[in-house]
Amino acid sequence: MKKITIIQPDDWHVHFRDEEMLKLVVPETDKIFGKCIVMPNLVPPITNNSMAIEYQKRIKKYVKKSLKTYLTIYLTENTDEDNLLTAFKEKNVFAVKLYPLGATTNSNFGIKNLESIMSVLSTMETNDIPLLIHGEDTDPKIDIFDREKYFIDRTLSKIVDRFPSLRITLEHITTFDAIDYIKLNKNIVGSITPHHLASNRNDMLVGGIKPHLYCLPILKRKTHQEELIKVAVSGNEKFFLGTDSAPHEIALKENHCGCAGVFNTPYTIQILAQIFENNNALNNFEKFVSIHGSKHYKLPINKNKINLIKKDIPIKFVNKLKINDTEIKIYKPSFDVFWDII
Ligand code: NCD
Ligand code: ZN
Repeated sequence: MKKITIIQPDDWHVHFRDEEMLKLVVPETDKIFGKCIVMPNLVPPITNNSMAIEYQKRIKKYVKKSLKTYLTIYLTENTDEDNLLTAFKEKNVFAVKLYPLGATTNSNFGIKNLESIMSVLSTMETNDIPLLIHGEDTDPKIDIFDREKYFIDRTLSKIVDRFPSLRITLEHITTFDAIDYIKLNKNIVGSITPHHLASNRNDMLVGGIKPHLYCLPILKRKTHQEELIKVAVSGNEKFFLGTDSAPHEIALKENHCGCAGVFNTPYTIQILAQIFENNNALNNFEKFVSIHGSKHYKLPINKNKINLIKKDIPIKFVNKLKINDTEIKIYKPSFDVFWDII
């Protein structure tokens, strides 16, 4: 049986939510990952130092192993720069998250007028605070499948021109436009989700609509998926794992207006091992899941290791997580996965 040992991985983009959901999902990340960056799009969003401090306390209640949780502040057009700087210097907040207004789940406090955040971005550049971006242009005239490309052309390029030293992560990238842009620009990196590597829009739409594959940015055509796989397995240090694991109750996904988000934490690493092996790139697996992110974020690489083995028969996926009345569906790709964590 094939076995590999790698440095414990990190998740550079995860949604923990609050209350019951927090209880359900934090332990799943804690079981597998060493470090993670937690998204701030709660209702109401985490927009200042004291909210971040309180949220961190609520998260910590459910961390039983060694998971380090790095919090983000949700950038609004009214973000208080002094408060942000204090939060960053006190290490309550690690990075700032930019959501364009209306781009995704709980983004109705996001940014519409780019000029209104120029001063905060300048402060962030001076103080080396990382900027994390949901890169989609929400202009209603733009086709949903082109939102990422338009965001790069119309918004990201302006930010990068104005703040060339700002460290930016273009999150959950989905297109070759994003890959090309990241390769060409120095201080910008990209995170990639397991579901954008493992699935494409045909998986979501052919033979009936699969609401559990609906996420934002939306799954793209196969040619984009192939480019994402190519760059993820290539060993290029500008690309690394951010699961964008985003739990929603099943009833809200299987709905006449189903919400966006895929919960993938429990099998992310197994799925990625399979993808890397299928592409003869297991030698670059550890870099993508455990090394590149820490380097970009200037954090220590984890000391712990994890072991994976390749089984003779495909692993069985548990379908759901459940606590009291809260049930969430676990992401499963359409191909077999033989790798398991032991
Ligand atoms: C995320 C969520 O549910 O919070 N949804 C998603 O489809 N990815 C938000 C996000 O990261 O866009
Ligand atoms: Zn997300």
